[in-house]
Amino acid sequence: MLIRRAEPEDVASIAPLLRGSSLASVEEALADPDRLVLVAQAPDGDVVGWAKTHHWHHDDPPAPAGHYLGGVTVAESWRRQGIAVALTEHRMAWLEARTDVVWCVTNARNVASLALHAGLGFDEVTRGARFHTTTFDGGVGVLLCARLGLRAGTTAPVDTLAP
Ligand SMILES: CC(C)(COP(=O)(O)OP(=O)(O)OC[C@H]1O[C@@H](n2cnc3c(N)ncnc32)[C@H](O)[C@@H]1OP(=O)(O)O)[C@@H](O)C(=O)NCCC(=O)NCCS
Repeated sequence: MLIRRAEPEDVASIAPLLRGSSLASVEEALADPDRLVLVAQAPDGDVVGWAKTHHWHHDDPPAPAGHYLGGVTVAESWRRQGIAVALTEHRMAWLEARTDVVWCVTNARNVASLALHAGLGFDEVTRGARFHTTTFDGGVGVLLCARLGLRAGTTAPVDTLAP
């Protein structure tokens, strides 16, 4: 499994994996040097997962300004093989040069996402109906936070990865 930066040509492959995000928001993220968009590419070349970061420049209490993880999605037939962990570890490694702390919001019902992020060092900060512009099916989301720099050497910075 290759984890690499997404290119504009990948947008069509990311499209079937989009949940809350629009294609326009993926293109916007790709064009922003302050954000990272990654894809997971299977040996046959298929894109089977993607993820991005988002930088909020302003506080919107209780959600602070800062770098957030977002969008991580893995094609159903490729789940439980560590792909989301790889996509997240590479985003966290990239963010280590930019911040000491990384944020994430997820639906309180999303057991898989909560377990994924807990396993990567995220702690729950608070629950709420909305964090920045994100609202949640069922009405409740969870704001998560992880300190960076505590896992040095676990993952090569994505800038060293292809292409
Ligand atoms: C959440 C999601 C990205 C996980 O992708 P994945 O590649 O299957 O995750 P991984 O294989 O890296 O799993 C890592 C850990 O996350 C947890 N996890 C993943 N899927 C889980 C599930 N269905 N139920 C409970 N825990 C789960 C487990 O702790 C797992 O470790 P383990 O397999 O050793 O038990 C995937 O289920 C998905 O695309 N879901 C829909 C989109 C989504 O909800 N994204 C999260 C938005 S914040």
